[in-house]
Amino acid sequence: MKRLLIPLLSLLLLSNTVSAQLYSADKGRVIYGHHHVNTTDIAAQQRFWIEGLGGKIAPWGSSGRELIAFPDVLVLLTESEPTMGTRGTMVNHVGFETQDIVADVNRLKAMGYPMITREELPDTYEVVDGIGKRVAGNTIAYVLGPDDIKVELIENRQIDYPIQMHHIHWATTEGEAMRAWYVEHFGAEFGSRIGQPAGQLPNVNLTFAPSETQPLPTKGTALDHIGFEIENLKAFCDELEAKGIKLDRGYTEIAALGIAIAFFTDPWGTYVELTEGLDKI
Ligand SMILES: [Fe+2]
Repeated sequence: MKRLLIPLLSLLLLSNTVSAQLYSADKGRVIYGHHHVNTTDIAAQQRFWIEGLGGKIAPWGSSGRELIAFPDVLVLLTESEPTMGTRGTMVNHVGFETQDIVADVNRLKAMGYPMITREELPDTYEVVDGIGKRVAGNTIAYVLGPDDIKVELIENRQIDYPIQMHHIHWATTEGEAMRAWYVEHFGAEFGSRIGQPAGQLPNVNLTFAPSETQPLPTKGTALDHIGFEIENLKAFCDELEAKGIKLDRGYTEIAALGIAIAFFTDPWGTYVELTEGLDKI
């Protein structure tokens, strides 16, 4: 056991040096990077993500902009009126793992955020005081943040941080096709989670929940787009385009922010940003 501890420790130290907040940056070519939120009330969003969920405000390089950092996900805010919340769009919600769900739910409730666990869970879950428990399953809760952004918490007492990135939860009429698409183009590992088609990347599970009707595209809504951090983004964009995927915005270097970006919309209407360099923040 002792022989294992030292390499593990040095790995941890190394990954903290390589990557400021996206701790999994060295674990794969494609990792999760950021949630991008539209809001007219920046302060309300900051209160939710920072005081409510435990994110940390951080300067964005020398740009003068700020972002909110969690282990393995950054939250970026743009001042723009969202057309709707997350429910009813392709990305129904985003999920975090947390070490202490009771403490989180109590704090979020005290801050005035609605816990929507009961209304969002099937009857097979028992829900008590905003916390849902599946028989022999995980303990979860849903909170509705400002601009009707739905966030899931999943308790996992074994994780290294109080809260960390866990999953993107799509709603779709074509879960198996979406999984195949993200496996093919993003290199996600084929799998399933809670009985739904899923793909696994180093720091995010991509879960595709069934929906009877086709949800709306994300662009312009409260969660405008999701973001993946890519190693060698230029080559990645070239590969996508060679496979016939049209980019809404081709590879662009943003010198002021020290990053490169590109955008595309997946075939079901998820607006996606690709970045290279957010892992240095
Ligand atoms: Fe979920």
